[in-house]
Amino acid sequence: DRLPELLRRMPKAELHIHIEGSLEPELMFAMAARNGVKLPYASVDELRRAYAFSNLQSFLDIYYAGASVLLHEQDFFDMAWAYLQRARADNVLRADIFFDPQTHTARGVAMGTVVNGLYRACRQARTELGVDAELILCFLRHLSEAEAFDTLEQALPHRDKFIGVGLDSSEVGHPPEKFARVYAKCRELGLHLVAHAGEEGPPAYVWTALDLLKVERIDHGVQSSKDPALMERLKQDRIALTVCPLSNLKLCVFPKLADHNLKQLLEAGLAVTVNSDDPAYFGGYINDNFVQLHEAVGLTAQHAYQLARNSFEASFAPPELKQRYV
Ligand code: HPA
Ligand code: ZN
Repeated sequence: DRLPELLRRMPKAELHIHIEGSLEPELMFAMAARNGVKLPYASVDELRRAYAFSNLQSFLDIYYAGASVLLHEQDFFDMAWAYLQRARADNVLRADIFFDPQTHTARGVAMGTVVNGLYRACRQARTELGVDAELILCFLRHLSEAEAFDTLEQALPHRDKFIGVGLDSSEVGHPPEKFARVYAKCRELGLHLVAHAGEEGPPAYVWTALDLLKVERIDHGVQSSKDPALMERLKQDRIALTVCPLSNLKLCVFPKLADHNLKQLLEAGLAVTVNSDDPAYFGGYINDNFVQLHEAVGLTAQHAYQLARNSFEASFAPPELKQRYV
């Protein structure tokens, strides 16, 4: 079977990666030591053993605790630089990277510290790695509309360092419409718009992300297969889904990878992409997602080609880069 080698080698774009979810336990412990932060785990091994999740919330609790070691601009740079080198090794030529500023500003870290460190890593990746990477600011949906507006205001002095906004954290009970006015403002500012929807939440959340937030892509979106009219809408409007197979497995969205619906979504004509979400927590980077999915559901070379092409087409890369690969 030569498909794993093709999957690993093909040029690809990654569109769903939370930079805080790329922080490997080894780097987390190194930062804890240098910053004098105490982690509630005695060792890297003990931390890794805590990575056994039953749903999205059980992951988020550990993920937000892990981010507590990030204090200085250099910490944000080092985290992003480690991801970008890892991405290069998987032949990722373009990355649309999520970051969660509220996780840091709530602990007293300045917005500029976060954005400047991440942005500097993205700039260096372009010159030293040949990876084109840009940032998407995510609002935490378990927090209020007012807190999202406040975060947007704090980010505006850095408007040139991020290209869009997203919506993440606890989905059920926090529907997209909670942030309709925030997204309207971001739209006026010319930002790209995406949102997590239909990860654990119902198809109704995908509909409102599209119709009320006016997003250009749906992050996850795997629950859409429960609603035929929604499937038709996604297909007609060529709305990309940034699907994350190993994340869905580890957060028990599907009981087994063999039960994952990615191949059905792709064969229904949707603009599906494969992504890693939080690779340090879910046991694999983007190529691991491709290869393990293939081993579980049997992808073909045609599927591989379509997934790679979709990833560039749906990316927010500049037209010159997109046109080289679509
Ligand atoms: N869903 C919601 N919030 C998140 C995720 C996710 O998959 N990863 C990091 N924050
Ligand atoms: Zn995500």
